[in-house]
Amino acid sequence: MLPTNFVGLLSLCLATTAWASPAFHFSSLNRNEAHSNSGSTHRGSDDLPDDPSDDCGTDISVDDAHKEEKRFRTMRRPHRADEEHFTFQLHYHNVVANTSFEGGWLDDEVIQTMVDNLNADFSSTGVNFELAEINHWSEENWFFNANKTEGLDLEVEMKESTRVGGRDTLNVWTIQLPNGPAGYAAFPWNFDKTDQDSIRDGVILKYSIIPGGRSKTRFGRTLTHEVGHWVGLYHTFQGKSCSGEGDFVDDTPMQLAPTSTKNGCTAIDTCGNDPGDDPIFNFMDYSSDECRSEFTPGQIEKIRQELATYRYNEEEQR
Ligand SMILES: *[C@@H]1O[C@H](CO)[C@@H](O)[C@H](O)[C@H]1NC(C)=O
Ligand SMILES: *[C@@H]1O[C@H](CO)[C@@H](O)[C@H](O)[C@H]1NC(C)=O
Repeated sequence: MLPTNFVGLLSLCLATTAWASPAFHFSSLNRNEAHSNSGSTHRGSDDLPDDPSDDCGTDISVDDAHKEEKRFRTMRRPHRADEEHFTFQLHYHNVVANTSFEGGWLDDEVIQTMVDNLNADFSSTGVNFELAEINHWSEENWFFNANKTEGLDLEVEMKESTRVGGRDTLNVWTIQLPNGPAGYAAFPWNFDKTDQDSIRDGVILKYSIIPGGRSKTRFGRTLTHEVGHWVGLYHTFQGKSCSGEGDFVDDTPMQLAPTSTKNGCTAIDTCGNDPGDDPIFNFMDYSSDECRSEFTPGQIEKIRQELATYRYNEEEQR
């Protein structure tokens, strides 16, 4: 059932990166075919319509968020200092039906660019990700059907068969997700709740939501957004209300509804009585990728506390 992987023969040297070269694993796909195909894909030639469902599938109810925040207050560990850096190993699983772009195949350079962009987006937070490994898995059934809406068993099978590491390792999978969303992620506090929660940790992305892909409004920041959930942030519009706790961060204005990609970067204010316009420049909104460019100081503080508590807690891990 599993593809027979053979460890990288290719010494593809990504010399521009500061960290050690990732170890490349390949599936049983023919690499020569893969390379000639990957050079001739027609990305960007026919733009996909911007599908409003191309958002994020990471949902949590107002009640559950309250429960988690209550638990967090009792478990919270201080991070050591503002200069503290959190470094995570990132294992990238490119699940494919075949070696064409439509079949899900992403070139290593594209994946490296995604991770470089992720690190640039997270540079203000003290968090960074080292691309440890890229795996290409040739498994058509996973590519088409492994998703949490109707393919949960397959999602669990795929993740159980391929994931690496524990609570402090980021696993990212790209699959087809034909009917949206653009991606979804696991929150840090769910790790270890049940065996299945631990297996399902990580980020799932739609294969076409990539830098240089076909969408004009989504070109890779979905990874930043989903990793934002993985490190403990909610949507800026969490609760979809102008009152209440919202996203449990003080310096993100209240927001009644997510910002549409069609809004562009025009200021809007869905909660007129609350100070500040909607946070359309925030990575945790749904505005188009050209606008999404910041985490607030309050979000950065929450990220650091979440990581110290749930992902980087040495007592709990080792
Ligand atoms: C690869 O898979 C995609 C998605 O099913 C399909 O559209 C495409 O025709 C396939 N390409 C080849 C060369 O088999
Ligand atoms: C999930 O997979 C099922 C098939 O198992 C498919 O019908 C459905 O469209 C997929 N959903 C998403 C969101 O991609």
